[in-house]
Amino acid sequence: MNAAAQFVSVSQMFGDFTAVDDIDLSIPAGKLTTLLGPSGCGKTTSLRMLAGYTRPTKGQILIDGVDATNAPPEKRGLGMVFQSYALFPHMTVTDNVGYGLRLRGVSKQERTERAAESLELVGLGHLAARKPRALSGGQQQRVALARAIAIRPKLLLLDEPLSNLDARLRVQMRSEIRRIQHETGLTVVLVTHDQDEALEMSDEMVLMRDGRIMQQGAPAEVFGAPSNRFVANFLGYENFVRTLTGLVTVRPEHLVVHPDTSSAPAGLSLPGVVTDIAYRGVDLLITVAARDETGAITLISDVRADGAPRLAPGDSVTATASASHLVDLAD
Ligand SMILES: Nc1ncnc2c1ncn2[C@@H]1O[C@H](COP(=O)(O)OP(=O)(O)O)[C@@H](O)[C@H]1O
Ligand SMILES: [Mg+2]
Repeated sequence: MNAAAQFVSVSQMFGDFTAVDDIDLSIPAGKLTTLLGPSGCGKTTSLRMLAGYTRPTKGQILIDGVDATNAPPEKRGLGMVFQSYALFPHMTVTDNVGYGLRLRGVSKQERTERAAESLELVGLGHLAARKPRALSGGQQQRVALARAIAIRPKLLLLDEPLSNLDARLRVQMRSEIRRIQHETGLTVVLVTHDQDEALEMSDEMVLMRDGRIMQQGAPAEVFGAPSNRFVANFLGYENFVRTLTGLVTVRPEHLVVHPDTSSAPAGLSLPGVVTDIAYRGVDLLITVAARDETGAITLISDVRADGAPRLAPGDSVTATASASHLVDLAD
C-alpha cells in the first residue's frame, strides 16, 4: 500500500489522561479513510496531530514518507474542514475559497481561476459572487470544502463535516464528497461517529475506542467480520449469545421469532418470551427475553411488518438464526 500518511506508535496525553494510546496507522494514498468511533475516543485528537495543531506526546507522524512530527500546520500542505466551517462573512464566496491561496502568495488571477475551478467541483460556480449569509447551510459547507480543495492539498482532513446539516442533506453530501474524492484523486481522512456514514463513504475504515484502534479494513470486511463485541455492537449487531463454543452475534434482521417452541433449524435456536413489540411502519422490533450459557439475555428481531407473525408480550417463542448468519466474536 502506498501510504500518504502514517502514525508510528503515536500517543497523546493531556495531563494524566491518554487520549490517543500508541496507535499505528497507515492512510492509503488516493483513498477515503474514515476514523470512526464514539464521542471521546480520540478521533479529533488524531486528526489534529496529523494536521500539526497538536504535537504527539510520543511517536512519529510521517507525511509522504517524511517525518513531519514537528512540522507546523502550514508546512504540511493539508486542507481541513471542521464541523463549524467558519467562512468570512464580509468576503464573497470566491474570496473565501481563494483565502488559503492568498496566504500562500498566489497571484490574484490564479486565485480567481482556482477558486472558480474548486467551486465548479462542488457545484457552486453560479454563487461565486455571493456573501456567505446569502447561502444555505449546505452551500456554506460546500464553500468550506472548495476552500480546502483550492490549495490542492496533499491530504484533505474532514472533521465531522456533515454533522451540522439536516438529515437529508447529510445523506446527499455523503455521495457528493465521494464524487469529489474520485474526481480529484485526493487522499481524504474523514472523522465521524456515524457508522452508516463510514460504511457508505469509506474505502478504508478505522474503528477507534478509548484512544486505540479496534479494527481497520474495507467496510464490507469489517462489517462482515467484526473482530470483537465492541465493533459488532457499534456497527449495529444486537444479539450476543454465549454458546458452548464461544461468543456469537447475529443482526436483528437475521433473527427470526417463531410463535411456537418447536422449530429448531441448524444454527442458533433459543426458547424465550416476548417482552415488547415496537411497530415502526415498514418493520417491527420484537424483543425476546431468553437465556444463554451465562444467564439472562435480551434478543431483538427486526422483521418486516407485513409478513410478521401475530405475537403479543408474554408469548412463548423460539428465536432462531441460520448458521450462515452467525458471526463468531473474540471476547
Ligand atoms: N485539549 C485537551 N485537554 C484535555 N483533554 C482533551 C483535550 N482534547 C481532547 N481531550 C480529551 O481527549 C479525549 C478524546 O477527545 P477527542 O479526540 O476530541 O475525541 P473525539 O473526536 O473522538 O470525540 C476526550 O476524552 C477529550 O475530552
Ligand atoms: Mg471530535
